[in-house]
Amino acid sequence: MGKAIAVLLLGVIVSAGIAWADKGKSLYDRLGGKVAITAVVETFVGKVGADKRINGYFGSTDLLKLKVHLVDQICEASGGPCKYAGRSMKQTHAGMGVTDAAFGALVEDLVAALNHHKVGKAEQEELLGILGPMKSDIVEKK
Ligand code: HEM
Repeated sequence: MGKAIAVLLLGVIVSAGIAWADKGKSLYDRLGGKVAITAVVETFVGKVGADKRINGYFGSTDLLKLKVHLVDQICEASGGPCKYAGRSMKQTHAGMGVTDAAFGALVEDLVAALNHHKVGKAEQEELLGILGPMKSDIVEKK
């Protein structure tokens, strides 16, 4: 009996330790690094392309360049080793007339892509917390 309790205690201590160690990890690491971020961006851009609410905006977009820039942006913003080399959010989206509703639709597609790749709720919230404030530089119309 004493042995069983000792094993149980050890188990509790080890799992608490793992949870604690995970807390110290960057969002980048918890997302699964560049490979996992690339998979999410791939799914996300696919969803945006199929989304009739917003795909009109991307009619003349170089999707390969867009994907590279999105991966680098998310990688860098989440604490990863990448450097985003694209234009500022204000410059990029200037004159597109992006609406509030279009922004909401794009976020929905991103959440669907994150869910598809089984990214945890805490990581999703953290990522949206980083990207959300960019809204004021992107949306031009109610
Ligand atoms: C937080 C939300 C968003 C983020 C983080 C974001 C990020 C980016 C990035 C990194 C690029 C590439 C910039 C470059 O190549 O220099 C880009 C391009 C683009 N974005 Fe966004 N974007 C967001 C929201 C939106 C929304 C809501 C729309 C419209 C529905 C939109 C439409 C576009 C288009 C059409 C391009 C391509 C521009 C081109 O072809 O030159 N974006 N975005």
